[in-house]
Amino acid sequence: MTRKILVLPGDGIGPEITAQASRVLAACQARGLDIEVEEALVGGAAYDAEGSPLPESTLARARAANAVLLGAVGGPKWDTLEDISKRPEKGLLGLRKELGLFGNLRPALLYPQLAEASSLKPELVAGLDIMIVRELTGGIYFGQPRGIEERDGQRVGYNTYVYSEAEIERIGRVAFEMASKRNKKLCSVDKANVLEVTMLWREVMERLAPEYPDVELSHMYVDNAAMQLVRAPKQFDVVVTGNMFGDILSDAAAMLTGSIGMLPSASLNASGQGMYEPCHGSAPDIAGQNVANPLATILSVAMMLRYSLGEAALAERIEAAVGQVLDDGLRTADIAAEGQRTVSTAEMGDAVLAAFDAI
Ligand code: NAD
Ligand code: IPM
Ligand code: MN
Repeated sequence: MTRKILVLPGDGIGPEITAQASRVLAACQARGLDIEVEEALVGGAAYDAEGSPLPESTLARARAANAVLLGAVGGPKWDTLEDISKRPEKGLLGLRKELGLFGNLRPALLYPQLAEASSLKPELVAGLDIMIVRELTGGIYFGQPRGIEERDGQRVGYNTYVYSEAEIERIGRVAFEMASKRNKKLCSVDKANVLEVTMLWREVMERLAPEYPDVELSHMYVDNAAMQLVRAPKQFDVVVTGNMFGDILSDAAAMLTGSIGMLPSASLNASGQGMYEPCHGSAPDIAGQNVANPLATILSVAMMLRYSLGEAALAERIEAAVGQVLDDGLRTADIAAEGQRTVSTAEMGDAVLAAFDAI
């Protein structure tokens, strides 16, 4: 059966990096993958064209797709929009919420060729392979009440950090399952020394543990986890945490792998439908220059093949092609050593395609 893929380039470097990832999808198609690919607007681009960061037509097409590939949204042009419901980021958050994409997988995997690009010493990151499982449709990102209002003659801003047991349990199960397929170590990151919501989080994780006897569960406070990630990151296998802590820790983990431009992600719902995107943003500082690293987006296509399309062999082939171009010394500016020759976004795409075809 033909599977539907919706590509949402978004803003900033989004169109540049998704263009390269779309070429990889087309190469898979040429190899017999039965897909139909279409494109739609999201984020600031959608706001500019249609007055909404998530037009109804985009949402309807996302619902109908087996998988969505998203570039990135946002940028200074829209940061001052008075109506925050129109901000590009609301388009992304709306997609996650509407599609029920609660399980966000962010693999911080060091390609050995990039050990020197990591901000940590090579011996600290050699062989690094962490899977961060981030809850994506709850927590402080979505809790009610929220707002900015006048109280006692001054404005106050507030958000609500809330998780139900059911929300914690379903992300906990994703993480335990993931750990049982990997090195069987799960570290749950919380702030249970201060926040009731994460006291409950910890309790639910403990309650699930006996169902996964092969997995060793540990707990860590988020401040310590941030420190441990840059002190001795290889102690982690699978990390499970809430929406905001996961956002922050995954950007830190990205740097261990050489660049935020290397970190892909999958966001999954209960029925296996997924949205795939790099963990980085729209990088307004380098947008339009053909210098952004497209590998996180290309690796997100590999995750799409693995998690939504059941095409693990093709996924491995893309990952191998990325390994090959790194072996061949190709580097975009973010992963280049000082003085090393760099390639453009499109040249990196060319090289991945050539390697993919040669495998
Ligand atoms: P960012 O990730 O866009 O950029 C941070 C730094 O990393 C910048 O110096 C940028 O040039 C660099 N960088 C990011 N991706 C890169 C790549 N592929 N290749 C090379 N360098 C890369 O984060 P920011 O600057 O905090 O945010 C910019 C905008 O992106 C904001 O509007 C933010 O809301 C949005 N954002 C969107 C997403 C998303 O769509 N998923 C994620 C994060 C941030
Ligand atoms: C990410 C981004 C988003 C988030 C923003 C753009 C809403 O930082 O995907 O990591 O905070 O989840
Ligand atoms: Mn983020």
